[in-house]
Amino acid sequence: MGFFLIYSGQATGSKDVTLRPNDLVFVQIGEKIYKNYCSSCHGLQLEGQKGWQTTLSDGMRLAPPHDASGHTWHHPNYHLFAMTKFGIEKLIGQDYPNNMPA
Ligand code: HEC
Repeated sequence: MGFFLIYSGQATGSKDVTLRPNDLVFVQIGEKIYKNYCSSCHGLQLEGQKGWQTTLSDGMRLAPPHDASGHTWHHPNYHLFAMTKFGIEKLIGQDYPNNMPA
């Protein structure tokens, strides 16, 4: 299940979120933040954790890639923002034990 629950859940905060993938200033700030806070799980090359598609024995998931081979690009901007800032459980509006820190 995992991510696909997100589509039936309620977003935390405004849906009016604009990401700026073509704004170099934001992208450069984001690159630093990503290296410091995200790459340990999602990978320096956005590759995710090996075997990310399998569910662990405790029911938890591994970090998916953020490149085109994953499904991050399926999510609208406010999903990505809310998952990162508030956590996946807040976005879907229900208890959802997971390894992704807000
Ligand atoms: C401790 C490991 C860890 C760190 C650090 C981490 N993540 Fe994650 N992330 C995960 C895991 C595990 C998932 C999958 C959670 C699940 O579905 O159970 C995930 C999922 C996501 C998703 C949903 C991806 C998708 O394809 O649907 C996004 C977006 C995301 N993370 C962004 C970030 C960002 C941005 C950062 C840094 C600010 C970050 N993560 C840091 C472990 C981590």
